[in-house]
Amino acid sequence: MSNHLLTLAIVLVLAATGGAHSEQQHQHDTPISRFQNYLRINTAHPNPNYTAPVSFLTAIAQTLNLQIQTLHFTPSKSKPLLLLTWPGSHPSLPSLLLNSHLDSVPAESHKWAHPPFSAHRTADGRIFARGAQDDKCIAIQYLEAIRTLKAADFAPIRPVHLSFVPDEEIGGLDGVAKFAASEEFRDLNVGFMLDEGQANPGDEFRVFYADRTPWNLIVKAKGAPGHGSRLYDNGAMENLMKSVEVMTRFRAAQFDVVKAGKAALSEVISVNPVYLKSGIASGDGFAMNVQPSEAEAGFDIRIPPTVDPELVRKRIAEEWAPEARNLTYQLIEKGPTRDFRGRPLATPTDDSNPWWSVFKQAIASAGGKLAKPEILASTTDARFMRQQGIPTLGFSPMTNTPILLHDHNEFLKDTVFLKGIKVYESVISALSSFVEISE
Ligand SMILES: *[C@@H]1O[C@H](CO)[C@@H](O)[C@H](O)[C@H]1NC(C)=O
Ligand SMILES: *[C@@H]1O[C@H](CO)[C@@H](O)[C@H](O)[C@H]1NC(C)=O
Ligand SMILES: [Zn+2]
Repeated sequence: MSNHLLTLAIVLVLAATGGAHSEQQHQHDTPISRFQNYLRINTAHPNPNYTAPVSFLTAIAQTLNLQIQTLHFTPSKSKPLLLLTWPGSHPSLPSLLLNSHLDSVPAESHKWAHPPFSAHRTADGRIFARGAQDDKCIAIQYLEAIRTLKAADFAPIRPVHLSFVPDEEIGGLDGVAKFAASEEFRDLNVGFMLDEGQANPGDEFRVFYADRTPWNLIVKAKGAPGHGSRLYDNGAMENLMKSVEVMTRFRAAQFDVVKAGKAALSEVISVNPVYLKSGIASGDGFAMNVQPSEAEAGFDIRIPPTVDPELVRKRIAEEWAPEARNLTYQLIEKGPTRDFRGRPLATPTDDSNPWWSVFKQAIASAGGKLAKPEILASTTDARFMRQQGIPTLGFSPMTNTPILLHDHNEFLKDTVFLKGIKVYESVISALSSFVEISE
């Protein structure tokens, strides 16, 4: 055997024993292995299996002696919502609700370094899986924090509820939207909720006090058809393109505010064209000598809570799709823009909100630093809770972690995951045991 081959043989032996060792670790029941096993359940759209994660989490809840309910808000009962409760010594106090969603977005397996439902853990501790950051981490971290607190004989004063909800990634209409409007939810008497947040490549924890509201706008134009060679006014394409120009200028003005450093991306209105549809189909393409009589464009619009939605509706009707230019439009408002009292959907992050002060203190006690509270550029289930007037913060304890939600190769490092459990131990114990003076 040459030296070369000998070295190779040793490497192979080491690799084989290393593999066996990590296999054994998989067998152990640890917070990490429970996280990996949860990640291995494929709950990606378009066909998430909701039975499997609900059974998995129910089994964990049984070991923790939590109260377990499975709620259904669809007639087919194909979209279960798992609700767990750790009762408090003062059941009449407003409760704490910890929310996470069961589903995830799809993954293009062939573009991943490790299969997206393998939860492969690399030698440096990165756990690769769809859902590792969004948001299966917090589901297991909540439960592991409760496990530790229970082992230390901590008993909450307020009830602590955990909800594991379906369909967040497709708008939550059969999930949190129905849950938040239900009698079961009212009975929980929720005082404060934590929902998912986002990772931070830096070393501060990000926290979100509002989401932007998504609107879909479809603008349709009609006009006289004509030969491609003719110059005439008010064709469908011309009228639609005038709208696109006006909206493009508005978009640029909003973006300029961000570029000038005067606002974050999530603090302005975004208007992005997402499709254009027109032309007379012919063969593999379009008739090039016909000016079409119809044209259509779609826009993704996001409205921060600081903006009066009525002003945007007015702008759409008067400037972006005016009847005078023979335009019609369809506006699909995907979720509320105001709470049930007509107030902006934003949770106060100052001393006027006692839950905020306790939360902030609990992060500091866990040795963490909070970043300046942010508006989330996209949306989460939190907006449906804020609509009910419930203060809600978006928070996923991931520092020094690249933002990979919905991306290829989504991962979370084991050390970051474990640190997150410690953070929730501090946060859950503090929030569940504080009592307001007025109560
Ligand atoms: C969902 O997962 C469960 C448990 O793993 C399995 O028994 C069931 O067949 C799955 N359902 C579907 C529709 O794939
Ligand atoms: C709108 O349509 C009407 C009826 O076809 C037409 O007379 C008018 O010129 C059009 N106006 C514009 C601005 O397209
Ligand atoms: Zn999410």
